[in-house]
Amino acid sequence: MYTIVAASQKGGSGKTTLSGHLAVEAVRQGAGEIALIDTDPQGSLAAWWNARAAPAPHFLKAGLPDLEEALAGLDRMGIRIAVIDTPPAITQSISKVVAHADLVIVPTRPSPHDLRAVGATVDIAERHGKPLIFVVNAATARARITGESAVALSQHGTVAPVTIHHRVDFAASMIDGRTVGEVTPASQSAKEITDLWLYIQERLSRIVRDPALLPDFRPGHLAINSLLASGMDAPSELLAAEPPGHEEPERRSGMERRIAELPRIPERRVFGRRASDLPVFGGWK
Ligand SMILES: Nc1ncnc2c1ncn2[C@@H]1O[C@H](COP(=O)(O)OP(=O)(O)OP(=O)(O)O)[C@@H](O)[C@H]1O
Ligand SMILES: [Mg+2]
Repeated sequence: MYTIVAASQKGGSGKTTLSGHLAVEAVRQGAGEIALIDTDPQGSLAAWWNARAAPAPHFLKAGLPDLEEALAGLDRMGIRIAVIDTPPAITQSISKVVAHADLVIVPTRPSPHDLRAVGATVDIAERHGKPLIFVVNAATARARITGESAVALSQHGTVAPVTIHHRVDFAASMIDGRTVGEVTPASQSAKEITDLWLYIQERLSRIVRDPALLPDFRPGHLAINSLLASGMDAPSELLAAEPPGHEEPERRSGMERRIAELPRIPERRVFGRRASDLPVFGGWK
């Protein structure tokens, strides 16, 4: 069983929202049996799950003393991925949960307060030698601070190439125990969550070196794929694949359109490897 921990010492950054949304999205994308664990005494995730009609994902409320046993029990049950929500600002307890993580996700609002607070969370992950991904959450559309925040965060670690924007449907969908993907499957919010989950699933599969965990398809519009479209031999299915259930026309920036319209050059190397080189575990072939 693999464990993803949502952690940030800053309150209200989106740990609970993203834990619930990512776990449900993992189920929707067929990533296997998924369990959500609430380790926050506030119990927000438990309240959400109690209001939920659908049986998946599995849910467990666990205190710190019983977390290890709970994880072992889920593993025995055949759970493939556990997503753990943590409380804010309690360094000791976050540290104990992070100790069990295969991957730590740090939701961060693009604000000076959130950015100042990330150092403590990064320290915890580093102390335990755990890989970490920042997710910029609740961003305002076209605000300059979003990009600036991503650059600032990138000084501390990997930043997810998918930004989650501030939209009321994230909060509204959770009132009755659902997610944006379940309430408004064709919305931009749902698309962002799908993209984010597929990115995280792929990262996790590389971190734990489990090729069986690689998602079947990747979103075609992520930043890296736009670069590949500039004339390199990317496998066509990587460029064209689009998650099912999102019927909206793809919205591209002017720059992305111009890049996509450039003539394709058959062979171009970046950092010594072709875009068509497929990643293999432990290196590139
Ligand atoms: N992308 C978003 N768009 C709109 N509202 C959001 C978004 N992400 C989170 N929120 C809202 O912000 C508030 C805080 O989010 P959430 O509870 O997920 O944060 P948290 O990090 O778990 O907080 P805490 O540290 O208190 O546990 C909630 O009301 C939630 O609905
Ligand atoms: Mg919370």
